Amino acid sequence: SPSDPDLVARARAAKEKLGDKVFVLGHHYQRDEVIQFADVTGDSFKLARDAAARPEAEYIVFCGVHFMAESADILTTDDQAVVLPDLAAGCSMADMATAEQVAECWDVLTDAGIADQVVPVSYMNSSADIKAFTGRHGGTICTSSNAKRALEWAFEQGEKILFLPDQHLGRNTAVRDMGMTLDDCVVYNPHKPNGGLTAEQLRNAKMILWRGHCSVHGRFSVESVEDVRARIPGVNVLVHPECKHEVVAAADHVGSTEYIIKALEAAPRGSKWAIGTELNLVRRLANRFADEDKEIVFLDKTVCFCSTMNRIDLPHLVWTLESLADGKLVNRIEVDPETEKYAKLALERMLALP
Ligand code: 13P
Ligand code: SF4
Repeated sequence: SPSDPDLVARARAAKEKLGDKVFVLGHHYQRDEVIQFADVTGDSFKLARDAAARPEAEYIVFCGVHFMAESADILTTDDQAVVLPDLAAGCSMADMATAEQVAECWDVLTDAGIADQVVPVSYMNSSADIKAFTGRHGGTICTSSNAKRALEWAFEQGEKILFLPDQHLGRNTAVRDMGMTLDDCVVYNPHKPNGGLTAEQLRNAKMILWRGHCSVHGRFSVESVEDVRARIPGVNVLVHPECKHEVVAAADHVGSTEYIIKALEAAPRGSKWAIGTELNLVRRLANRFADEDKEIVFLDKTVCFCSTMNRIDLPHLVWTLESLADGKLVNRIEVDPETEKYAKLALERMLALP
């Protein structure tokens, strides 16, 4: 979408006034109008590392969603303020696992006599509370770009994994990358007594998958893969691992947003790609590579933005930057010290993965 020239000028002026005091991070799913002001762009893993590598910036403006801003706060120093331009930019997947539900799940695993064999692995897309739970129980965080290494590490620490909160990333990584079978995985439903599982099912499972999902990536289907293959002969289907297992199985390539970008950069001229991830990113890539004669289409027929990522728009960014430039700290995301301590442990285990 074309950005309002007045707002563009205001954002530019406020950012200039702030100078090195501000550092703007932009997730790949952000709108073009916001991405143009990002000092760095990245997937969730890269942005977590980039935030931690900027100790001189007083303000980290995180153009992304709430759990990413929390993670940045955990990884930055106490004098740095992490700011989320719209506090309503959450993530419906992260909301699918609450601290109470996860504590209850741990009781279920304890009653089944397996808690001491279980290592939690939590996807970055989770609240700081869930990350703290993970740290307290000897587990690690992972993102879509290091999930395999996280599972390998976890299986060195214990016999079973509790994977939170994205069942699809958990299942896809277990089956695609770790040689497990679908039967090695069970799904824990927090809305059912005992997660809807018997103690025997829990004892037999290698992967206990939390029943969470991303509704944006949940829209892609095997039918959309078949349709695009019929429409565009020779097309390469590349999807994000938050897609359902059958979609991932039907695709040619699977990877994080950063992986998707790298794959398209390396793709030969004349190649054709159907991409199964958020639409802002796919459109940006289609435009970027149009000159290089790479045909890039969105995997689904319907429009598919992440509505919470999209909440960060140019007006919110302008308001944020102008407030900071006026010395008003707005929309700070701050994790309490006790939660931060254990969440940091889990995040640092991820950053230390080989
Ligand atoms: P990545 O940027 O790690 O691929 O994750 C995508 C996503 O859904 C973030 O919410
Ligand atoms: Fe959450 Fe899905 Fe949006 Fe990513 S795309 S922020 S997982 S709702």
